[in-house]
Amino acid sequence: CFLFLTKRKRLDGEPPLENGWLPFIGVALQFQRNPLEFLTSRKRRYGDAFTCRIAGKYFTFILDPFSYNAVIRQGKNLNFQKFAIAASLKVFGHADFSDPKYNISYEEIHPIFRQTLQGAALQPLTLSMMKNLQFVMQKSKAYDWTTEGVYSFAFKIMFEAGYLTLFGRNEYLLAEDNAEEAQEAWMTRIMDDFKVLDNAFPHIVAGVPIFLLWKVKAAREDLAGKFLHEYLKKNTNLSELIEKRINIFDRIKNLDEVNKARTHVAMLWASQANTLPATFWSLFYMLRSPEALREARKEVEQLLQDTNQSTETQVCFTKDHLDNMTVLGSIIDEALRLSSASIMIRVANENFILTLDSREEIKIRKGDCIALYPQMIHLDPEIYEDAKEFKYNRFLDENGQRKTCFLKNGRKFKSFLLPFGAGISECPGRFFAVNEIKQFLALILCHYDLELQNMDIPPLDNSRAGFGILQPKYDVQFRYKLKRKNREK
Ligand code: HEM
Repeated sequence: CFLFLTKRKRLDGEPPLENGWLPFIGVALQFQRNPLEFLTSRKRRYGDAFTCRIAGKYFTFILDPFSYNAVIRQGKNLNFQKFAIAASLKVFGHADFSDPKYNISYEEIHPIFRQTLQGAALQPLTLSMMKNLQFVMQKSKAYDWTTEGVYSFAFKIMFEAGYLTLFGRNEYLLAEDNAEEAQEAWMTRIMDDFKVLDNAFPHIVAGVPIFLLWKVKAAREDLAGKFLHEYLKKNTNLSELIEKRINIFDRIKNLDEVNKARTHVAMLWASQANTLPATFWSLFYMLRSPEALREARKEVEQLLQDTNQSTETQVCFTKDHLDNMTVLGSIIDEALRLSSASIMIRVANENFILTLDSREEIKIRKGDCIALYPQMIHLDPEIYEDAKEFKYNRFLDENGQRKTCFLKNGRKFKSFLLPFGAGISECPGRFFAVNEIKQFLALILCHYDLELQNMDIPPLDNSRAGFGILQPKYDVQFRYKLKRKNREK
């Protein structure tokens, strides 16, 4: 406790240090209120590398984009799992696999993500998502103009379709007399529980114990109850990801059923928490910009024509078709650029010296965190002209292909867009995530008429800064209806 109250002194060779005037908390409150503003002001004061005390820990921020690689490549001295696993344990309460009693390591579980979410595995996932999205869209029977919030609309469709794609369909409910209502009630309960847990996520990570938030804990346990292996194994169309995770967890001795189920709650959160707001921003910006909407429609109509498909029946776009939808890709990238606020954190295993791009060497102490905050890059006017504006074609080159050349100070660099993190901790679901959002946008254009009713851009809700894609502070109304031809089917 005494250690928390003392202020540390900067040693020779260390970056500038700000302890903050509040013992233990340091600069946490200023950082949390508006990380971008905080970091911009400290950059002016200290330059591109400095250390701050945040909630009892020391974070060295590296702001120069050309030095990102120096951090991302430091596998030996920097550990990314320590921080992420500590957060996951607090929120989801699952077993800690670094405990020797489980006789397994994260290194054995982790490769499943890549095996089942990338490469060839992406094709069946994409096809399954295609069917599920259209199933959810059509069952709403919204044939007359309906007014709703864009977030609420995107949430309902993406959550259910994403859930069905990973966790499959609950067959025993289909056997009931009122199968449709039973399914509906089941899904509504899962969505409500997810929202309760997701809303509390930043508070729990910040240190509020979940047992004090009894409604949140109840929601988490309710979700875990649905993911018990005895139920999950009866679902049809389980994804390979969940099947493999069930198998590996079943092989672990000393791992009880509730702990297995809680790991699936963590997976549900990872697969939805960022995808949902990213889908909102992509749809909102596409509807708000007449050029974006026109060009996106053109791209979808052209693909329908090229593949000889009509929207009167179910549409099917494969992974390769989606890869070629560069306008939708650029709309999504631009929406991610404007709404992403994730932080990349690595913990120093040892005292070591970090060499920045400028050749400057800074000393890092064992146990300190190094933090990268890509929103500083995403909104940098030297990299992106009119950085705060949405430009649907910002990520398209002159040939209509994905643009990959961005400059700062006349120098080309790679890490111009990092909503999915980078290096060892880069999101393994990133290809699936972009595909899902593309599918959603393309299918919305195929099956709905829609009109935005308010053109004001809602502000970003900074309370989730550091955790990924920010939500809007409030929802935006729009109206929509399923196209008439679908009604006649
Ligand atoms: C981790 C972003 C969608 C699965 C992450 C991280 C970020 C991220 C920033 C942490 C990286 C770090 O610590 O440096 C996003 C965004 C998404 C998205 C912006 C949507 C737009 C998905 C989807 C899935 C997924 C759809 C799975 C189906 C995961 C998993 C991890 C992760 C399993 C943890 C990986 C690990 O422990 O190494 N994601 N993600 N994500 N994401 Fe995503």
